[in-house]
Amino acid sequence: MRSRQAARKRRGLWGRPLSAPERRAEAPAKTAVYGAAAPPDRLAARYRLGRTPVQVGGRSWSMLGPADPDSLIDAIQPNDDDRLPYWAQLWPAGQVLAEAVLTTDALAGQRVLELGCGLGLTAAAALVAGAELLAVDCEPDALAFAAYNVQALAGVSLVTKLGNWRGPDPGAWLEPPYDIVLAADVLYERRDVEPLAALVPQLLAPGGWLWLAEPRREAGGRFVALLREAGWDDVVQSVPFAGLGQRLVVDLHRLTPPG
Ligand SMILES: C[S@@+](CC[C@H](N)C(=O)[O-])C[C@H]1O[C@@H](n2cnc3c(N)ncnc32)[C@H](O)[C@@H]1O
Repeated sequence: MRSRQAARKRRGLWGRPLSAPERRAEAPAKTAVYGAAAPPDRLAARYRLGRTPVQVGGRSWSMLGPADPDSLIDAIQPNDDDRLPYWAQLWPAGQVLAEAVLTTDALAGQRVLELGCGLGLTAAAALVAGAELLAVDCEPDALAFAAYNVQALAGVSLVTKLGNWRGPDPGAWLEPPYDIVLAADVLYERRDVEPLAALVPQLLAPGGWLWLAEPRREAGGRFVALLREAGWDDVVQSVPFAGLGQRLVVDLHRLTPPG
Protein backbone atom coordinates (compact mmCIF):
# COMPACT_ATOMS: atom_id res chain seq x y z
CA MET A 1 0.00 0.00 0.00
CA ARG A 2 2.75 2.42 0.98
CA SER A 3 4.66 1.83 -2.23
CA ARG A 4 1.47 2.35 -4.24
CA GLN A 5 0.82 5.62 -2.48
CA ALA A 6 4.44 6.64 -3.03
CA ALA A 7 4.04 5.76 -6.71
CA ARG A 8 0.90 7.85 -6.93
CA LYS A 9 2.69 10.74 -5.26
CA ARG A 10 5.49 10.43 -7.82
CA ARG A 11 2.88 10.47 -10.56
CA GLY A 12 1.54 13.66 -9.05
CA LEU A 13 -1.88 12.26 -8.22
CA TRP A 14 -2.08 13.74 -4.76
CA GLY A 15 -1.97 17.28 -3.48
CA ARG A 16 -0.57 18.02 -0.03
CA PRO A 17 -2.24 15.66 2.45
CA LEU A 18 -4.34 17.33 5.13
CA SER A 19 -2.87 17.48 8.63
CA ALA A 20 -4.72 15.56 11.39
CA PRO A 21 -6.52 18.70 12.72
CA GLU A 22 -7.51 19.62 9.17
CA ARG A 23 -8.87 16.12 8.61
CA ARG A 24 -10.91 16.33 11.81
CA ALA A 25 -12.32 19.68 10.66
CA GLU A 26 -13.53 18.11 7.43
CA ALA A 27 -16.92 16.55 6.88
CA PRO A 28 -16.97 12.92 8.11
CA ALA A 29 -14.92 10.62 5.90
CA LYS A 30 -16.26 7.73 3.89
CA THR A 31 -18.33 5.23 5.81
CA ALA A 32 -19.56 1.82 4.73
CA VAL A 33 -23.29 2.45 5.25
CA TYR A 34 -25.88 2.61 2.51
CA GLY A 35 -28.48 5.28 1.92
CA ALA A 36 -32.14 4.53 1.41
CA ALA A 37 -31.94 3.54 -2.25
CA ALA A 38 -30.33 0.17 -2.92
CA PRO A 39 -27.27 0.14 -5.22
CA PRO A 40 -27.27 -2.27 -8.16
CA ASP A 41 -26.71 -5.89 -7.09
CA ARG A 42 -23.73 -6.22 -9.43
CA LEU A 43 -21.87 -3.41 -7.66
CA ALA A 44 -22.84 -4.63 -4.20
CA ALA A 45 -21.57 -8.09 -5.13
CA ARG A 46 -18.24 -6.82 -6.44
CA TYR A 47 -17.37 -4.13 -3.90
CA ARG A 48 -17.64 -3.23 -0.26
CA LEU A 49 -19.57 -0.01 -0.72
CA GLY A 50 -19.03 3.31 1.01
CA ARG A 51 -20.34 6.83 0.81
CA THR A 52 -18.42 10.08 0.55
CA PRO A 53 -20.24 13.23 1.69
CA VAL A 54 -19.67 16.34 -0.44
CA GLN A 55 -20.89 19.91 -0.16
CA VAL A 56 -21.46 21.30 -3.62
CA GLY A 57 -23.48 24.25 -4.91
CA GLY A 58 -25.06 24.67 -1.47
CA ARG A 59 -26.19 21.04 -1.49
CA SER A 60 -25.15 18.16 0.78
CA TRP A 61 -24.64 15.18 -1.46
CA SER A 62 -23.52 11.67 -0.68
CA MET A 63 -21.69 9.74 -3.39
CA LEU A 64 -21.67 5.96 -3.50
CA GLY A 65 -18.45 4.20 -4.46
CA PRO A 66 -16.07 1.46 -3.42
CA ALA A 67 -15.33 1.88 0.30
CA ASP A 68 -11.60 1.33 -0.11
CA PRO A 69 -10.23 2.52 -3.48
CA ASP A 70 -6.64 1.90 -2.35
CA SER A 71 -7.36 -1.82 -2.03
CA LEU A 72 -8.43 -1.85 -5.69
CA ILE A 73 -5.09 -0.33 -6.64
CA ASP A 74 -3.29 -2.94 -4.58
CA ALA A 75 -5.25 -5.69 -6.33
CA ILE A 76 -4.23 -4.83 -9.89
CA GLN A 77 -1.29 -6.46 -11.66
CA PRO A 78 1.95 -4.46 -11.45
CA ASN A 79 2.11 -3.91 -15.22
CA ASP A 80 -1.58 -3.24 -15.72
CA ASP A 81 -1.19 0.51 -15.68
CA ASP A 82 -4.06 0.89 -18.13
CA ARG A 83 -6.51 -0.29 -15.47
CA LEU A 84 -5.47 1.88 -12.53
CA PRO A 85 -8.84 2.38 -10.83
CA TYR A 86 -8.74 6.15 -10.40
CA TRP A 87 -12.47 6.18 -11.20
CA ALA A 88 -13.20 4.66 -7.80
CA GLN A 89 -12.90 7.80 -5.69
CA LEU A 90 -13.84 11.47 -5.87
CA TRP A 91 -11.19 13.98 -6.89
CA PRO A 92 -10.90 17.66 -5.94
CA ALA A 93 -11.05 18.77 -9.57
CA GLY A 94 -14.38 17.00 -10.01
CA GLN A 95 -15.81 18.75 -6.98
CA VAL A 96 -14.53 22.15 -8.19
CA LEU A 97 -16.04 21.55 -11.63
CA ALA A 98 -19.36 20.42 -10.10
CA GLU A 99 -19.43 23.60 -8.01
CA ALA A 100 -18.79 25.74 -11.10
CA VAL A 101 -21.51 23.92 -13.03
CA LEU A 102 -24.08 24.36 -10.26
CA THR A 103 -23.41 28.07 -9.79
CA THR A 104 -24.09 29.16 -13.36
CA ASP A 105 -26.96 28.81 -15.80
CA ALA A 106 -24.52 28.32 -18.70
CA LEU A 107 -25.34 24.61 -19.07
CA ALA A 108 -29.13 24.87 -19.16
CA GLY A 109 -30.43 23.37 -22.40
CA GLN A 110 -26.91 22.85 -23.76
CA ARG A 111 -25.55 19.69 -25.36
CA VAL A 112 -22.78 18.66 -22.98
CA LEU A 113 -20.20 15.85 -22.96
CA GLU A 114 -18.26 14.80 -19.87
CA LEU A 115 -14.97 13.02 -20.48
CA GLY A 116 -13.89 10.67 -17.64
CA CYS A 117 -16.94 10.98 -15.39
CA GLY A 118 -15.69 8.63 -12.63
CA LEU A 119 -18.33 8.26 -9.90
CA GLY A 120 -20.55 10.91 -11.48
CA LEU A 121 -20.32 13.99 -9.26
CA THR A 122 -19.84 16.47 -12.11
CA ALA A 123 -22.38 14.59 -14.22
CA ALA A 124 -25.01 14.89 -11.48
CA ALA A 125 -24.27 18.61 -11.20
CA ALA A 126 -24.55 19.08 -14.98
CA LEU A 127 -27.94 17.35 -15.08
CA VAL A 128 -29.26 19.37 -12.14
CA ALA A 129 -28.06 22.46 -14.04
CA GLY A 130 -30.25 21.46 -16.99
CA ALA A 131 -27.67 20.05 -19.41
CA GLU A 132 -28.41 17.43 -22.04
CA LEU A 133 -25.51 15.20 -21.04
CA LEU A 134 -23.49 12.28 -22.35
CA ALA A 135 -21.03 10.90 -19.78
CA VAL A 136 -18.04 8.87 -20.96
CA ASP A 137 -15.54 6.67 -19.17
CA CYS A 138 -13.38 3.69 -20.08
CA GLU A 139 -14.37 1.74 -16.96
CA PRO A 140 -17.77 -0.01 -16.93
CA ASP A 141 -18.01 0.07 -13.14
CA ALA A 142 -17.38 3.82 -13.12
CA LEU A 143 -20.37 4.27 -15.42
CA ALA A 144 -22.50 1.96 -13.24
CA PHE A 145 -21.69 3.92 -10.08
CA ALA A 146 -22.16 7.22 -11.93
CA ALA A 147 -25.58 6.13 -13.18
CA TYR A 148 -26.60 5.14 -9.66
CA ASN A 149 -25.35 8.41 -8.14
CA VAL A 150 -26.95 10.55 -10.84
CA GLN A 151 -30.31 8.83 -10.41
CA ALA A 152 -30.12 9.28 -6.64
CA LEU A 153 -28.98 12.91 -6.74
CA ALA A 154 -30.47 14.40 -9.91
CA GLY A 155 -33.47 12.07 -10.25
CA VAL A 156 -32.77 11.29 -13.90
CA SER A 157 -31.17 8.51 -15.92
CA LEU A 158 -27.60 9.07 -17.02
CA VAL A 159 -26.80 8.56 -20.69
CA THR A 160 -23.36 6.94 -20.87
CA LYS A 161 -20.83 5.64 -23.34
CA LEU A 162 -18.08 3.20 -22.50
CA GLY A 163 -14.93 3.94 -24.45
CA ASN A 164 -11.29 4.94 -24.47
CA TRP A 165 -10.38 8.24 -26.10
CA ARG A 166 -6.97 6.80 -26.98
CA GLY A 167 -8.72 4.17 -29.13
CA PRO A 168 -9.50 4.44 -32.85
CA ASP A 169 -11.59 7.36 -34.09
CA PRO A 170 -13.00 8.67 -30.78
CA GLY A 171 -14.28 11.73 -32.66
CA ALA A 172 -16.89 9.42 -34.25
CA TRP A 173 -18.22 7.39 -31.29
CA LEU A 174 -18.38 10.45 -29.06
CA GLU A 175 -21.07 11.86 -31.39
CA PRO A 176 -20.13 15.53 -31.60
CA PRO A 177 -20.83 18.43 -31.75
CA TYR A 178 -21.20 19.68 -28.15
CA ASP A 179 -21.76 23.16 -26.80
CA ILE A 180 -19.67 22.36 -23.72
CA VAL A 181 -17.19 19.59 -22.96
CA LEU A 182 -16.50 19.01 -19.26
CA ALA A 183 -13.40 17.25 -17.97
CA ALA A 184 -12.06 17.01 -14.41
CA ASP A 185 -8.63 15.56 -13.67
CA VAL A 186 -8.33 13.46 -16.80
CA LEU A 187 -4.78 14.56 -17.73
CA TYR A 188 -2.49 12.65 -15.38
CA GLU A 189 -0.81 10.52 -18.06
CA ARG A 190 1.51 12.10 -20.62
CA ARG A 191 0.21 9.68 -23.26
CA ASP A 192 -3.24 11.33 -23.04
CA VAL A 193 -2.00 14.81 -23.91
CA GLU A 194 -1.72 14.58 -27.70
CA PRO A 195 -4.80 12.35 -28.23
CA LEU A 196 -6.98 14.69 -26.20
CA ALA A 197 -5.50 17.82 -27.79
CA ALA A 198 -6.35 16.33 -31.19
CA LEU A 199 -9.80 15.15 -30.10
CA VAL A 200 -11.26 18.15 -28.28
CA PRO A 201 -11.40 20.46 -31.35
CA GLN A 202 -13.45 17.77 -33.13
CA LEU A 203 -15.96 17.67 -30.31
CA LEU A 204 -16.99 21.30 -30.04
CA ALA A 205 -19.71 23.11 -31.95
CA PRO A 206 -18.79 26.57 -33.25
CA GLY A 207 -18.59 28.85 -30.22
CA GLY A 208 -18.24 25.81 -27.94
CA TRP A 209 -16.24 25.57 -24.70
CA LEU A 210 -14.01 23.12 -22.94
CA TRP A 211 -14.33 23.45 -19.17
CA LEU A 212 -11.26 21.68 -17.81
CA ALA A 213 -10.66 21.36 -14.07
CA GLU A 214 -6.98 20.67 -13.60
CA PRO A 215 -5.10 20.17 -10.31
CA ARG A 216 -1.85 21.45 -11.84
CA ARG A 217 -0.49 18.15 -13.04
CA GLU A 218 2.37 18.20 -15.51
CA ALA A 219 0.36 16.49 -18.26
CA GLY A 220 -2.50 18.94 -17.75
CA GLY A 221 -0.11 21.86 -18.13
CA ARG A 222 1.26 20.42 -21.38
CA PHE A 223 -2.27 19.95 -22.73
CA VAL A 224 -3.29 23.53 -21.92
CA ALA A 225 -0.03 24.83 -23.41
CA LEU A 226 -0.74 22.94 -26.66
CA LEU A 227 -4.21 24.47 -26.97
CA ARG A 228 -2.92 27.95 -26.20
CA GLU A 229 -0.21 27.56 -28.84
CA ALA A 230 -2.97 26.60 -31.28
CA GLY A 231 -4.67 29.92 -30.56
CA TRP A 232 -7.30 28.86 -28.00
CA ASP A 233 -8.52 31.50 -25.60
CA ASP A 234 -8.12 30.41 -21.97
CA VAL A 235 -9.91 32.07 -19.05
CA VAL A 236 -8.47 30.54 -15.87
CA GLN A 237 -9.89 30.65 -12.38
CA SER A 238 -7.62 29.27 -9.64
CA VAL A 239 -9.66 27.66 -6.88
CA PRO A 240 -8.05 26.75 -3.51
CA PHE A 241 -9.51 23.42 -2.37
CA ALA A 242 -9.42 21.61 0.95
CA GLY A 243 -11.35 18.37 1.28
CA LEU A 244 -11.38 14.71 0.22
CA GLY A 245 -8.22 14.39 2.30
CA GLN A 246 -6.27 16.90 0.21
CA ARG A 247 -5.35 20.57 0.10
CA LEU A 248 -4.38 21.98 -3.30
CA VAL A 249 -5.28 24.49 -5.99
CA VAL A 250 -7.45 23.47 -8.91
CA ASP A 251 -7.26 25.56 -12.07
CA LEU A 252 -10.60 25.83 -13.82
CA HIS A 253 -9.89 26.55 -17.50
CA ARG A 254 -12.63 27.76 -19.81
CA LEU A 255 -11.10 27.22 -23.23
CA THR A 256 -12.50 28.27 -26.59
CA PRO A 257 -10.98 27.48 -29.99
CA PRO A 258 -9.81 30.23 -32.33
CA GLY A 259 -12.18 31.77 -34.88
C1 LIG B 1 -8.74 10.88 -11.85
S1 LIG B 1 -10.27 10.22 -12.40
C2 LIG B 1 -11.35 11.64 -12.33
C3 LIG B 1 -12.79 11.23 -12.21
C4 LIG B 1 -13.78 12.40 -12.08
N1 LIG B 1 -13.73 13.24 -13.26
C5 LIG B 1 -13.49 13.19 -10.84
O1 LIG B 1 -12.94 14.30 -10.96
O2 LIG B 1 -13.81 12.72 -9.73
C6 LIG B 1 -10.06 10.05 -14.19
C7 LIG B 1 -11.25 9.39 -14.89
O3 LIG B 1 -11.02 9.38 -16.30
C8 LIG B 1 -11.22 8.06 -16.80
N2 LIG B 1 -10.26 7.88 -17.91
C9 LIG B 1 -8.92 7.95 -17.83
N3 LIG B 1 -8.35 7.73 -19.02
C10 LIG B 1 -9.38 7.51 -19.88
C11 LIG B 1 -9.44 7.23 -21.29
N4 LIG B 1 -8.31 7.11 -22.01
N5 LIG B 1 -10.66 7.08 -21.88
C12 LIG B 1 -11.79 7.19 -21.12
N6 LIG B 1 -11.80 7.45 -19.79
C13 LIG B 1 -10.61 7.61 -19.18
C14 LIG B 1 -10.91 7.14 -15.61
O4 LIG B 1 -11.51 5.86 -15.74
C15 LIG B 1 -11.46 7.96 -14.45
O5 LIG B 1 -12.84 7.73 -14.23
